[in-house]
Amino acid sequence: MSILVERKGQVVIVKLNRPKSLNALNSDVMEEMVTTLQPLDQDPDVGCFIITGSEKVFAAGADIKEMANQTYMDMFYQDYFAGWDGFAALRTPKIAAVSGYALGGGCELAMMCDMIFAAESAKFGQPEIKLGVIPGIGGSQRLTKLVGKAKAMDMILTGRLMEADEAERAGLVARIIPDDKLLSETIAAAEAIAAYGKPAVMVAREAVERALECSLREGILFERRTFHALFATEDQKEGMKAFIEKRKPFFKSK
Ligand code: CAA
Repeated sequence: MSILVERKGQVVIVKLNRPKSLNALNSDVMEEMVTTLQPLDQDPDVGCFIITGSEKVFAAGADIKEMANQTYMDMFYQDYFAGWDGFAALRTPKIAAVSGYALGGGCELAMMCDMIFAAESAKFGQPEIKLGVIPGIGGSQRLTKLVGKAKAMDMILTGRLMEADEAERAGLVARIIPDDKLLSETIAAAEAIAAYGKPAVMVAREAVERALECSLREGILFERRTFHALFATEDQKEGMKAFIEKRKPFFKSK
């Protein structure tokens, strides 16, 4: 298996498992990730996914050895990388826990997650230009939306790496965590998310995603209609009742 999957209560941890090629993302990783996570995405008992790698490397990019001899027509007919759209489309929150290198497709995989928690050792980069290509799993688009044109251009055109503290300042990373605490702190955050009602969590992340994808007016309308819709859930009744009764809520719909 190119990935290892561990379930801890309502949290599913996916560990990239190609140590000899520094977790390079080949077609097997893409397929295993999507086929494993899609059914779990629809499971109300699964509240959060964590995607992680090893201490040295989150992922060193798409698999250069798999791509090296492909022709334009090979890439075109396979619609190479299109399978990753299935990963990005998962509705359960995904946290990338990044230690070491997150390069090329590795950085793009982290950016397809809802949040990136970075170990102090994390290094991000889109060095595809050094291979004669450009990012191919959304890097030119997501990186620009997340860190802005100036830094995206700098990273994509020069291929330089960005350390964790710069990535946090730039808005790419949600938290920086000491390396030895990366997984435990990420699991704690995932458990906190998983304890909330899943429908509210799912639409909350969709609402935030909208901010990157549409106009302010459309985004606010989406938020408002979704806010209204949550009044059809038992979790809204329970959450507000529990506040008034000064007790902890018990969210059922998960
Ligand atoms: N694909 C395939 N194999 C890879 C790989 C990748 N992206 N990255 C590393 N490997 C392999 C190496 O070929 C090497 O294999 P062998 O032992 O068989 O020679 C093994 O992993 C160990 O790598 P290094 O010896 O290079 O390890 P290092 O510690 O000296 O360097 C590194 C680490 C800086 C991450 C370096 O491996 C590196 O620069 N890797 C490539 C990074 C890169 O260019 N990523 C972008 C890929 S293209 C892409 O991702 C397109 C896209 O947008 C989706």
